[in-house]
Order: sequence, then structure tokens, then C-alpha cells
Amino acid sequence: MHQLEAPTAASKQAMYRTLKAQLAALFAKERDGIANSANAASVLFHQLPDLNWVGFYFLKGNELVLGPFQGQAACVRIALGAGVCGTAAAQRVSVVVPDVHAFAGHIACDPASRSEIVVPLVDAGRLLGVLDLDSPSDARFDEEDRTGLEALAALLVSCSDLDRCTA
Ligand code: SME
Repeated sequence: MHQLEAPTAASKQAMYRTLKAQLAALFAKERDGIANSANAASVLFHQLPDLNWVGFYFLKGNELVLGPFQGQAACVRIALGAGVCGTAAAQRVSVVVPDVHAFAGHIACDPASRSEIVVPLVDAGRLLGVLDLDSPSDARFDEEDRTGLEALAALLVSCSDLDRCTA
């Protein structure tokens, strides 16, 4: 059987450049935070390979609350510092988890998930939420994904009124 070739760093960079251009076009005439994050979740879920969940959690008080997503229904509230999402949010740093079963405190929403990346959404030092992607494959996410997704998260933050998604 023909095997798909693994993506190279260059092909991943090209993919993220394409995604950034697509999202910039979608955001060009719209600043609504829910609309833009919903479209971002859809574009990422349908165009990045090997994912089972993509979505957002927004900061409300001291917890993250589920926002627009694609995939199976997910846990709604995550405390700051809990799980991969709460860790990325509390530390305001992207967290790449090659094996979710080896991450102490990982919150299993979809049992199909094997690896995960969470990128914080930060605007001028203020935490707004996180972007979370899950894969059914081990070690799906690497440095190219981290760099590419951080650029897309920054684009979403700069083009959208996400403060209305938080409380
Ligand atoms: N696994 C995440 C919870 C969110 S779901 O993956 C959609 C975590 O540990 O924070």
C-alpha cells in the first residue's frame, strides 16, 4: 500500500503560510471574536492533517470555558493550572505534549487523543484564552507547528475583539 510521505519542515512552513493568508482574508472585514475563532477552528480542523479536535477556551474569571471548536463534545470548564490547557494558560507559554498519557494531569475529553498542543492567546500581556489541537497520532506536533500556530493565534488576537469572549 502507498504510504503518505511525512511532511518536511519546509512543507509545514508553507502550509502555515497558506493558512495565515486564508485566515487573514476571513478576518479582513470581521472583528467579532466568536465568529473569527469559529472560522479559525474550522479552517484548522479541515486543512491540517491528522487531527481529532481543534478549538478554543476563553478565560472567564479563574477558569477556561469552552469556545468554538470542531470535534467531539469536550469538557466545558478547566481551572487555570489544570491539564494541558490550564498549564499553557497559567504559564502563558505554548505546551507541546507528544504523549498525553505521560502528561500528569492531562484532561481526557476525547479518548482518541494521543498528542496535543496548546497555544495561549495573549493580548498586550493579558491572557484571553487558549487554542488547543489534539491528534490521534503520537508526537503529531513539532516546532514547526508551534511556530505556525503561534503566528495564527497572534493574527486572531490582533484581528478580533476577543475581550468580548472573556469575562
Ligand atoms: N486535553 C485538554 C483538555 C481539552 S480537550 O483536549 C479538548 C487538557 O488536558 O487541558
